[in-house]
Amino acid sequence: MASNQPLPETHRALILTSRAYGPEIKTIPTPQPGPGNAIVRIEAANIISYSKHIYSGTRPYPLPVPLVIGTSAIGRIATTGPDAVSLKPGQLIFVDSFVRGRDDEDAAFLFGVHEGHSEESKILMRGEWRDATYAEYAKVPLENCYPLNEDLLVNKLGYGIAEDLQDLSRLLVPYGGLRDINLQPGETIIIAPATGAFGSAAVKCALAIGARVIALGRNLDALKPLASKSSNPARVETVQLTGDVQTDLKVLQVFGRIDAYLDISPPAAANSTHFKSCILSLRKGGRVSFMGGLNDEITIPIKAVVSRDLQLRGKWMYERKDVRDLIRMVEMGLLKLGGQKVDKFKLGEWEAAFDRAAEYAGSGGEKAAVIVP
Ligand SMILES: NC(=O)c1ccc[n+]([C@@H]2O[C@H](COP(=O)([O-])OP(=O)(O)OC[C@H]3O[C@@H](n4cnc5c(N)ncnc54)[C@H](OP(=O)(O)O)[C@@H]3O)[C@@H](O)[C@H]2O)c1
Repeated sequence: MASNQPLPETHRALILTSRAYGPEIKTIPTPQPGPGNAIVRIEAANIISYSKHIYSGTRPYPLPVPLVIGTSAIGRIATTGPDAVSLKPGQLIFVDSFVRGRDDEDAAFLFGVHEGHSEESKILMRGEWRDATYAEYAKVPLENCYPLNEDLLVNKLGYGIAEDLQDLSRLLVPYGGLRDINLQPGETIIIAPATGAFGSAAVKCALAIGARVIALGRNLDALKPLASKSSNPARVETVQLTGDVQTDLKVLQVFGRIDAYLDISPPAAANSTHFKSCILSLRKGGRVSFMGGLNDEITIPIKAVVSRDLQLRGKWMYERKDVRDLIRMVEMGLLKLGGQKVDKFKLGEWEAAFDRAAEYAGSGGEKAAVIVP
């Protein structure tokens, strides 16, 4: 491995100063290494399908300005701080956007996206970890740099960095919920809605865990490929929502014992009837992972929850162990990457990139847009 290389004095970054004007490219001083961090050369950074709404404020995620925006990414270690003991310059890594306080793991925020839900998490994002990955270089907490076995993943399995490895970010989100409800091989789980970026990732992860999936959604054309193009079509059932609780419940009951349900609804789905039909379809002791970004309250069929010993859990993102486990599943070939159409955009093309990501929402994860600084 190479030794720490001198960094350029300046680098290019996508900076949001005001949500009214949107991000702009600026040349700014390159971040410097220090205790607890690594400076990472960003190779490919993900784009959330609703990024343009986050950074224009129409989806008003709390974040401090100015900041370098961005999210999870694949990068290479450029230089490490003095307390790095294993990360080496040149090493390929996954940059995890879920940053936690070192002295308080509960203080967590999303790098470049959302300053979290507590005063403590705001301290982290407003201060030391303000600048994220839509840049040539990013300063990343050491513990958010997850080594990737490049020889295996790239040279032997043939995965491209921007084409395939960037998808770890999308897969990790629902994997966190599936692990949190302890989904087991042989179990049956409902994923709803299953046709979005994260819902389709949940289908993939649940199959890799060894479960049978009932994929729910409004759009039959988007649901069909979730089964036909999956790693195991025989373990995927698709159900088109009608909007009538009893009708949808009857269809779900045809599949027999249902052990679990993962929900990853967008805010627009707050009034959907599927929450009720899915909960009502669960067997005694069934588990629910609520991961949707709902701003409104939903009605829970409490009688069924109580009488059937149902367990309802919420999950924001995932645990550190989940990141390591998911990478291992990919390295072992249990979870296959690839098959996505990935459009790459330079930093200066951010507007087209955000539009493309929005256009690809609902593609069942078949299409993605990434930033390659
Ligand atoms: N808990 C966490 O850690 C976490 C992390 C990231 C994101 N999230 C949440 O996950 C949500 C989904 O993200 P995404 O990127 O997958 O979004 P997306 O790609 O835009 O997909 C949205 C999905 O919701 C469905 N949908 C939209 N409106 C609906 C409605 N009124 N009723 C029923 N279904 C509806 C869409 O299906 P159609 O084909 O029917 O339109 C599609 O399947 C986000 O909004 C975010 O809040 C949570």
